[in-house]
Amino acid sequence: MVKETDNLIDWLDERLAVKKLVKVLMTEYWVPKNVNFLWAMGALLVTLFSVLFISGIVLLMYYKPDVNLAFDSVNYTIMHEVAYGWLFRNVHAVSASVIFLIMYIHMFVGIYYGSYKSGREMIWISGMLLFFIFSAEAFSGYMLPWGQMSYWAAQVITNLFGGIPIIGDSLVVWIRGNFFVADATLTRFFMLHVVLLPVVIMGIIVLHFYSLRVPHVNNQDGEEVDFDKEAEKYMAGKVKEAKVVPFWPVFLSKDFAVISTFLVFFFYLVFFHYSFALDPINFDPADNMKTPPHIYPEWYFLWSYEVMRGFFFDIGPISAFDVGLIAFGFANVAFLLIPFLDKDKSIRPAHKRPLFKIWYILLIVDLVILTTYGKLPPTGTNAYIGFVAASVFILLFVMLPTITRRDAKTKGEE
Ligand code: HEM
Repeated sequence: MVKETDNLIDWLDERLAVKKLVKVLMTEYWVPKNVNFLWAMGALLVTLFSVLFISGIVLLMYYKPDVNLAFDSVNYTIMHEVAYGWLFRNVHAVSASVIFLIMYIHMFVGIYYGSYKSGREMIWISGMLLFFIFSAEAFSGYMLPWGQMSYWAAQVITNLFGGIPIIGDSLVVWIRGNFFVADATLTRFFMLHVVLLPVVIMGIIVLHFYSLRVPHVNNQDGEEVDFDKEAEKYMAGKVKEAKVVPFWPVFLSKDFAVISTFLVFFFYLVFFHYSFALDPINFDPADNMKTPPHIYPEWYFLWSYEVMRGFFFDIGPISAFDVGLIAFGFANVAFLLIPFLDKDKSIRPAHKRPLFKIWYILLIVDLVILTTYGKLPPTGTNAYIGFVAASVFILLFVMLPTITRRDAKTKGEE
């Protein structure tokens, strides 16, 4: 009898806790009303990360991190022998590719609306950290099938660390765990891919969300909203007049609508166009005696790869390899620096900042050119187009402080 009463109290407690949580969500978390569907990209990223996590766990049950077994465990066991193994592999590969597309959209929405300034710098920095760790996660995952591209991409990328002065050569050996890319390299990248990096990603997602709590999300007009005052209006029944809506269930219903629509498109890709996420050359087992004629990374790294290849000549005493490496380093920190390079303190969307709007369009066009040429062999005209596009990329970031200062001066004239 005592036990049953205890159970009843626990049951009631749980129900009350859920009720309390719903009440907190409905009364304490508010979101600006004037945000469009582009503000659902963060929720889409959480969805895609969850899909990657679940499909990854299923793949982990059959994958073998050993240079003699890895290729077959993916291409025969998972793809042909395990029931629906092919489905989980396609889901994992497609979501890995699409998460970068959504991450780029999310970043460019932030740049367009100036969501990285005036107290939102930490959101931006934690976001960029997520981008870096996701890049390492994608690169380490690409090695696991131990196909030709896995092997040679690992060779090229680990070699880049050799360009660091003094410690470069030892660093390459330390990263590879051997003098060349070998079994030790595969097992340590396996550890990074399935344990360390996912844990770090989850930690940084928490930091990203926590840094969103204080300044709140931005809105389409960059308007400073008094959340307490607007929330009071909403609670007093002036729903139309209030500039905010409760996070739950009003704001989340829009997120759910975008996620559901996106999932239709996502599964269309998984079932009918999965091949875009799997490089054909990686269906040949790794062979350290046979270099593929042309080595390139996945599409989402092509722009920074092309910035590196764009500088194919020595500059004075600095060799072409080192010049390329410096340019590559710059490409990787450029986006992180945006909040500090943008000297216009006011938060306005790009269409209300005349020069910044041109800068924004030029940057996107340049990134598309870099991505396109990053996949082509760097010979003849391609090499020169690559050089111009890489120089424009660097110039755009160097000019950003001047452009934004000018826009700040002409503020209010449009
Ligand atoms: C897996 C990675 C990521 C996840 C799960 C994530 C999640 C979110 C979520 C849920 C939001 C709030 C809703 C929204 O505005 O979409 C948000 C906002 C934001 N995120 Fe991310 N994000 C990720 C990566 C990034 C990256 C790579 C950047 C770029 C540096 C970034 C920068 C921002 C900014 C600036 C905001 C504030 C937007 C605003 O105030 O309007 N995030 N993120």
